[in-house]
Amino acid sequence: MSHPSPSPSLQATFEAALQDSQIDAGTVGQMDSESQPEHVWAAFDSAQAAQAGLNPEALLSQTGDRGALFVLLENRETDPSLASLRNHLWPHFHAVAIYDGKGDRVKRRTVGSSEDLQKGSGGGQVYLLRRLQEVMSPETTTAKFDQNAKGWDGVPGSPGYPHFRWMRRYVGLYGKPDRASRILDFGSGAGWVGIEAAKCFPGSSLFLFDPSPEMVVQPCEGRVGFGDEPPFPRAGEEPYDWVISSGVISFAPDSEAWLDGLCRTLAPGGTLVIGDIQLESKGFRKRRKSHPLLPVRELNAKSASWVRKALEARGFQFLRGSAYQLTYPVPQVMHVNETKLGGVLSRPLLWLNQLGAGLSSWSGGKGQGCFDSWVMHLRAPGE
Ligand SMILES: C[S@@+](CC[C@H](N)C(=O)[O-])C[C@H]1O[C@@H](n2cnc3c(N)ncnc32)[C@H](O)[C@@H]1O
Repeated sequence: MSHPSPSPSLQATFEAALQDSQIDAGTVGQMDSESQPEHVWAAFDSAQAAQAGLNPEALLSQTGDRGALFVLLENRETDPSLASLRNHLWPHFHAVAIYDGKGDRVKRRTVGSSEDLQKGSGGGQVYLLRRLQEVMSPETTTAKFDQNAKGWDGVPGSPGYPHFRWMRRYVGLYGKPDRASRILDFGSGAGWVGIEAAKCFPGSSLFLFDPSPEMVVQPCEGRVGFGDEPPFPRAGEEPYDWVISSGVISFAPDSEAWLDGLCRTLAPGGTLVIGDIQLESKGFRKRRKSHPLLPVRELNAKSASWVRKALEARGFQFLRGSAYQLTYPVPQVMHVNETKLGGVLSRPLLWLNQLGAGLSSWSGGKGQGCFDSWVMHLRAPGE
């Protein structure tokens, strides 16, 4: 059962959350109210009560297209209880912030950040979720990656750089064909995977595109666009004999439309290499149980077997698939290595990852759950 009204201290936290998220209180109404507000709130004693009382489908019809859902909790909850509530509301809503009322202040948590917002009284907890279509909208994606673009080249000499280069190279060379003249990096970021591939064939042409204009700045032909309507090839242009897409499908709100777009770019018989994060790895499963705030792609990712089936249904021939990037606790050790140990473990950790990837490849892709990423090589139909 939801409460008719929050306690005064929870109300104070709610007001801080509204102000911080720049949502006008006049556009927010209580769940199940007759007035059809843009955004909805509902108050409960606990996350468990919220899970029992919130019906995600019904909530979709109660919120506007860009609507937010504020779940107000009288008692501050553990992160695993909030994560369970988030999983219940997925894929209709995705959690973007938590406001903790801590008596003398309200603290805001988002993915990767935590900040005290204000002095003053506040109690309980407010969990802010947004409609998935809003979180994964083209505008949100472009803004997010424009902001991240500066860090996308890696920093040569930094503790994380050897791993960064190895990963790009691993995927870039995974399905290396005997010859290639037109190479497309599909959702390229700064283009490092495509660059590794193009280096194998001097004289080849590299094309790349990304939704973020800030990313597409390499000295080769770059365009701005999304995978479901790729900007390559334009009318009158040839398709591509080697297409690589690394770490992108998990960002697509409609994976089928995105795959249709990907398949349209390939020349008959062309080489496709696609890779992404591994939804069912031990590390990602653990994170979904314990972390109430996660990047949306960690929930939206597709398994390698799902992608393989979807591509085979489009006439592609699967040639080889395997996994790379060891899962929990290796990324956590890498983080400590980079932030606290000054990189003393960078080489041994890289060797461990290289050994793991080698074993996965040798075994034909067995043990996918031990890795955070997958990659596969397919041939396009038609030759
Ligand atoms: C994790 S990054 C990977 C970048 C690059 N492929 C690499 O491996 O370094 C994901 C990239 O996908 C892009 N992206 C997000 N949604 C996309 C979509 N629907 N179609 C194509 N690219 C997309 C983002 O802008 C971002 O640069």
